[in-house]
Amino acid sequence: MFNKKPHISCLISAGPTREWIDPVRFLSNPSSGKMGYALAETARDLGMKVTLVSGPVSIPTPEGMEVIKVETANEMKSAMLSTFDNANLIIMCAAVSDHRPAKYTESKIVKDQFPSHLELARNPDILKHLGGLKKIDQVLVGFAAETKEVLLSAKKKLVEKNLDWIIANDVSNEQGGFSNDKNEVILIGSGGQEHPFALDDKQIIAQKLLNVIYPSCIEKAR
Ligand code: CTP
Repeated sequence: MFNKKPHISCLISAGPTREWIDPVRFLSNPSSGKMGYALAETARDLGMKVTLVSGPVSIPTPEGMEVIKVETANEMKSAMLSTFDNANLIIMCAAVSDHRPAKYTESKIVKDQFPSHLELARNPDILKHLGGLKKIDQVLVGFAAETKEVLLSAKKKLVEKNLDWIIANDVSNEQGGFSNDKNEVILIGSGGQEHPFALDDKQIIAQKLLNVIYPSCIEKAR
């Protein structure tokens, strides 16, 4: 009884966000949601209570967890905040659009009236906001989507966003990254630990990541 594992609640975001220009056009990115969904399924299989906040994706909705579907970065932020306080482990895997059109046009803009320059507004940095709210017993994990100086940029984000772990992801790698079935990452801890995981299926990468991250949640939740 003394060593009984505490029950861990896990909140994960996945997929892209869509930032609408008008009813027929949006700004987005090629995130498939596969990495975040693999993490959510692995967390569920480890016995965690999982909430998945998902941007628009075309992969099947997983069983055995609460799934909150969102479109925009602002909707994703609200959904994350609605569950954040009750989560022990929070993983921000979503590819959040950093910008949205400054103005949404209610009816379709016909091509002859489409502006040659789009005015943009900055979206909130959801992970940084969560880093500011993080409590002592919570483990906060981010991803770093990089195309150059991968480790250096990831370590900078780890500190700036007050994270416990960051997963450095070279999205210029043709075999890994955004919309592929495989990924190659380096997990970096706030204590400086580095765990490189060679190219493998996203399900395997998810298991390897949580094999390291999960024990740190148990430790903090005790
Ligand atoms: N993120 C977020 N909100 C944003 C942008 C990013 O929560 N508006 C999160 C992502 O989910 C990821 C981490 O922050 O976990 C890093 O995202 P990334 O796209 O690598 O970097 P940015 O913080 O957007 O910085 P930059 O674009 O300058 O590299």
